[in-house]
Amino acid sequence: MEKPRIARYKPYYYELEADRTYLWCSCGRSENQPFCDGSHKGSEFLPVKYRAKQPGEEVLFCGCKHTNDQPFCDGAHNNLQDTYAGEEDNTSAVLASYVIRDTTSPVTKLNNSCYVSNPASHKFDTSGSLAWCVLISGQMGAQYQSQYYLKQSKGEHEIVSFGDSEIAMLVTGGEGEIVISGKLFPLSKHAGVYVTAGEAFCLVPSSEKPLEVYVTICPESNGLKVLDLMPNNFDATVPKRVISVDENNAQNMGDRFFQILVGKDVGSNVLTEFIGDIPKSKAAMHRHLYEETLVILEGEGVMWTENKKTNVVSGDIIFLPRKQVHSLECTSEQGMRLAGVIYPGDNPAINY
Ligand code: FES
Repeated sequence: MEKPRIARYKPYYYELEADRTYLWCSCGRSENQPFCDGSHKGSEFLPVKYRAKQPGEEVLFCGCKHTNDQPFCDGAHNNLQDTYAGEEDNTSAVLASYVIRDTTSPVTKLNNSCYVSNPASHKFDTSGSLAWCVLISGQMGAQYQSQYYLKQSKGEHEIVSFGDSEIAMLVTGGEGEIVISGKLFPLSKHAGVYVTAGEAFCLVPSSEKPLEVYVTICPESNGLKVLDLMPNNFDATVPKRVISVDENNAQNMGDRFFQILVGKDVGSNVLTEFIGDIPKSKAAMHRHLYEETLVILEGEGVMWTENKKTNVVSGDIIFLPRKQVHSLECTSEQGMRLAGVIYPGDNPAINY
C-alpha cells in the first residue's frame, strides 16, 4: 500500500464557513495544504470531502496524513517522531520570565487565564470530618470545568453531591472505599472514579490517613452540597466506576504514555480523564481545542506559556483554557506522572 507524504507533523487549525465543502488532501502532495490541488492524480489517494456542521466550526485538519479519523487530526503525528517535541524548536519560549510561586496567594498566574495552584495555598471549608477547597471554577476563569480538592478523615463521612454534573475523581492519598449512591467500590492509588449526573458519593478512609481526591466537575456546577441521606439512585447502566492504573492499557504518544481512566468506554460522553507518564524532557509549545486541568502526581517540572513560566511539583494543579499555548517540562530524572481532565473532547493526544 502506498504511504502518504507527511505534509507537516502538526494539524491545521481552521474555522469553517457554513455551506462550504472542503476537500482535504489525503496524499500529502498538494501545494495548497491542507486542501487538495489535484496532485494526487496517478496515486491511489483521493481527497476527502467535509462540509461544516455549523458556521465557525473549529477543526484541526490532519497534516501528517496518518490519521485514522480523516480528515481530522487524531494525534497520530505524535508517534511519527521519536519524541513528543515535534519538528519545531522552542525558541519562542526561551525568553519566558520566571514567575515566583507566592504561597500566600491561591494561584500563580501565567499568560491569559492559565494558572498553577495547590490545595495548600487555599482556605478550606469543613463539614464533619470532610474538608475541601475550590481549585478551579467559573469565577477563576474556567468555562467548562470546576475542580475541588477533598480530604476525608476518619470519623463522620459526609455525603457529597454536585447536583446534575458529571464527576471524574482522582485518588491521590490514603486508602479506603467510595460509596456512590448506595453502591460501594474499593479505591486504589491514582485510580480514576466516575460519578454520573445526579448521583451522590461518600469517601470512607480505612486508615488514620485521610482519603484525598481531586474532583473535576463538568460542566460547571452549582457547588458542593452535603446531604443528610445517601440517595438510592445508582445508575446501574454504568457499572464500572473505579478505574485503576494498568500499564497494559497505556497508549504511546511519542516518548510519553497515557491511559484513559474515565471516558467513552466507561460511559461518559461529557468528560475524559487520563493519567500519563512523561520522561525528563520539554515538549514544543502547543495548544488544544479543549479546556484542560492537570494534576501533578509525581516528579517536578516547569509550566511554560507564551512568555511566562513557573515551577510545578507534586500536588499542584494547572488550569489551561482552550487554545492556550503551553508546554509542560519535566525536570525530574525519574520522570513525571500527571493526570488530567479534558472537555470538550475525548482524545488527549490531539494538539496543534
Ligand atoms: S492533492 Fe492530496 S488528495 Fe488531492
